[in-house]
Amino acid sequence: MDKNSPIGVFDSGIGGLTVLESLKALMPQENFIYLADDAFYPYGTKTKSAIENRVLTIGKAFIKKDVKAIVIACNTASANAQKLINWAKIPIITVIEPTALAAFNQSQAKKIAVIATKLTISLGMYQNYLEEWQAKVYSLATSELVPLAESPNRQSAETKAQVLEIVKPLLNKDFDTLILGCTHFGLLKEALADIFPHAQLVACGEATAIKLKNELERLDLMTERKSQGSVELLCSRHPECYLDKIDWLSFKYRKPRTW
Ligand code: DGL
Repeated sequence: MDKNSPIGVFDSGIGGLTVLESLKALMPQENFIYLADDAFYPYGTKTKSAIENRVLTIGKAFIKKDVKAIVIACNTASANAQKLINWAKIPIITVIEPTALAAFNQSQAKKIAVIATKLTISLGMYQNYLEEWQAKVYSLATSELVPLAESPNRQSAETKAQVLEIVKPLLNKDFDTLILGCTHFGLLKEALADIFPHAQLVACGEATAIKLKNELERLDLMTERKSQGSVELLCSRHPECYLDKIDWLSFKYRKPRTW
């Protein structure tokens, strides 16, 4: 395995870029290939077997591109990654366990709310981890937030009002930590912070980046490159899926193209 090979990262759309931001910040010399799977978007309202098979297909395609590790920068796909994990011989990093643990450690009261897609919530992984650690958990399926996060208008007052309407069931709940259990929701952080001013928001990027770094170090797979690594943005259908949506990225990237 070549230490200087790229790392594959994917999501159904641009949500996983919130994770890539953290990966790039922690490991600037690594090369990353990011796939927005716009041909199969959205993931969170599909069936378990559809997503499991899609995750395996994408994993195989990444391995053909000689990646040294894959980061599943999507909670819905992470909850359905077992087939790929069983098949692959390279590290497959998922987001749910590190994010749940980070939220648990940060919560004072051990009262935690989690918002995620319909499929992620129905599979109960966040709830199981947190309850096993004796936290009180409030969960809410909020797949309707995904298109709001994908929209170039995500900062508008209208979008903020829609976000409020969707997360309303959590308003009267007593928690001090809110897990953004869908990587798209990191893009709605400002609106969510306004709605829940007493909660700390925990997104998936930081904890996942630490997990990847630890794994690469453990396997002696960190790049030896001294200069900045590259970022390639790919999609499975139309490169326009990135159009007008990624002006907030802090790193340089090549012009998006089809997979
Ligand atoms: N970003 C994905 C996640 O973290 C889901 C978005 C979708 O439903 O496609 O769950």
